[in-house]
Amino acid sequence: MDKKYYDIVLDSEPTLRQPSVPVATPLSSENQEIIDNMMKYVKDSLDEENQEEYGLKPASGLAAPQVGFNRQMFVIRLEECVDDAIIVTEYALVNPKIISHSEQLAFLGAGEGCLSVDDEYEGYVFRPARVTIKAYDAIKKEDVVFRARGFEAIVLQHELDHLNGVLFYDHINEKDPFKIIENAKEL
Ligand code: NI
Repeated sequence: MDKKYYDIVLDSEPTLRQPSVPVATPLSSENQEIIDNMMKYVKDSLDEENQEEYGLKPASGLAAPQVGFNRQMFVIRLEECVDDAIIVTEYALVNPKIISHSEQLAFLGAGEGCLSVDDEYEGYVFRPARVTIKAYDAIKKEDVVFRARGFEAIVLQHELDHLNGVLFYDHINEKDPFKIIENAKEL
């Protein structure tokens, strides 16, 4: 890659709506490099200097189709402040699948956003509150099955949607965007 950071594919481009293809594991060096570059993007995107100098928008996750590769890969990086310490959670997942999920739904009270979406879409996005995911973990370099809940579960499902060409606003109730679904947990 010549440039320091990938350009982000916006939702005006049809490739973002196309499903991504499965990826051979263990990863080829090319796919590993894409993962590394995506992780660098999300990590650096929280830094204000980078935001100014390179026009990065802060991100929690990034899926390969958002950087021009319709391949089933995404990364997530979450920073959480707990008692003055910053806890970092990172995922780099390949060929992810939701193998089971809770009946209960959850949603972000502030709504969702996406690097590929410049327009404002207001409304709640309801997703299963807890999910069990099967994937190849590109950090551990092995197949994994794990459970996630809370904000993490929301971000995982948002990124997984990208691999199917789905965007967060597809889930918003057009007629009543802030209608609460009974028993849904607000995060
Ligand atoms: Ni997104």
